[in-house]
Amino acid sequence: MHRVLFLNGPNLNLLGQREPEVYGQLSLSDLNDLVADKASRLGLVLTTYQSNIEGELVNRVHQAKLDGVDFIVINPGAYTHTSVAIRDAFLGTEIPFIEVHLSNIFSRESFRHQSYLSDIAVGVISGFGAHGYELALQAAVEQLS
Ligand code: DQA
Repeated sequence: MHRVLFLNGPNLNLLGQREPEVYGQLSLSDLNDLVADKASRLGLVLTTYQSNIEGELVNRVHQAKLDGVDFIVINPGAYTHTSVAIRDAFLGTEIPFIEVHLSNIFSRESFRHQSYLSDIAVGVISGFGAHGYELALQAAVEQLS
């Protein structure tokens, strides 16, 4: 069975309370349940992790390599637009990943149009809310098979 890590970056622990008109009503715990359900239906072994701290996300990508994780689905939050360190963690471990955003980052402020990850991702899903994570898992399975 393939192992997938579902990684969430800063402020995503506030989902449900945080700008619900942009990010939706589901909490991170609701989202984790939804993603876990989809993963089990797809026959994936899923682990989830969220941190507000850049270095902890970097460490988690390194750990994923040691744990034999096959694929990562990540919403890097605001680190999307700033983090060379997370980019380098993916380049260093060579774990394939999909970048997901709840909102359509291209319909928002121009500073959100820049991503340090998109060009090295397998793909990017942006603007479909929670359904984007289900789409990402589906795409991950297709990539892995
Ligand atoms: C986000 C978009 C980012 O620009 C923002 O900083 C987030 C969430 C999204 O899911 O739409 O924290 O990644």
